[in-house]
Amino acid sequence: MSSADENLPAMPRHIAVIMDGNGRWAYRQHLPRVAGHRRGAEVVREMVQSCVDIGIPYLTLFAFSTENWRRPVLEVRLLMNLFRLLLRREARKLHENGVRLCIIGDRSALDCDIRQLVEEAEALTCNNKRLQLNLAVNYGGRWDIVQAARAAMAAVQAGELAPEDFSEAHIAQHLCLADIPEPDLLIRTGGEERISNFLIWQLAYTEFYFSDTLWPDFDRMALEYALQSFAHRQRRFGRTGDQVLEGDCSASD
Ligand code: FPP
Repeated sequence: MSSADENLPAMPRHIAVIMDGNGRWAYRQHLPRVAGHRRGAEVVREMVQSCVDIGIPYLTLFAFSTENWRRPVLEVRLLMNLFRLLLRREARKLHENGVRLCIIGDRSALDCDIRQLVEEAEALTCNNKRLQLNLAVNYGGRWDIVQAARAAMAAVQAGELAPEDFSEAHIAQHLCLADIPEPDLLIRTGGEERISNFLIWQLAYTEFYFSDTLWPDFDRMALEYALQSFAHRQRRFGRTGDQVLEGDCSASD
């Protein structure tokens, strides 16, 4: 293996996905939008299985953003019902498959029964180690930073942290997903090329992969293309390409 090969990031540890294109998929099949979301939920199941098979330890999926409440009431209701179904029907299967389920986002706006199901599913799967599946529901990257900043401000107010000592680490430690590696690879399906208020802090050094494939068509082969693309990226984290090839990890920016 050459030194260049040694510096290739062979496999991501953490994949984050913006699952876009359900509505357009349904439109193309002359079906209502809800059919696209239903098919999208099946693809979630397939994606989880692929990550388990391939050995990816962390997967974070953007299921419902803080902005998605602006959608028609019926569509929001359907998405919440799909979420209920996933929690009721899939939690046990996830558990048997060694998958830990974590929900990230502002739970306060979710219906009581959903919050209850979330707590039960998280408790059931909390010791599983094969894959951690983070489902972002009523999640926004700005919300995440604000809630982390609030926690840091509380420490200042309590006299535990001097304002002049306040640093990035005090935000980072309170963010959702603070206890797992930041995403190595972000996949966005559906042809759009934006972050849409997903993990805006955590994606600072993430490799992006934009696919024209609509989420309901994003199969195992499509995932493998994304992984192949990732395997050919050189991750420099502010260093020069030569430093990376020489294995110099001391320099920053
Ligand atoms: C974007 O497609 C997709 C969503 C807003 C929801 C993602 C939901 C799923 C994949 C189903 C699983 C759901 C849960 C809650 C587990 P879009 O509707 O914006 O598609 P379009 O851009 O083609 O209109």
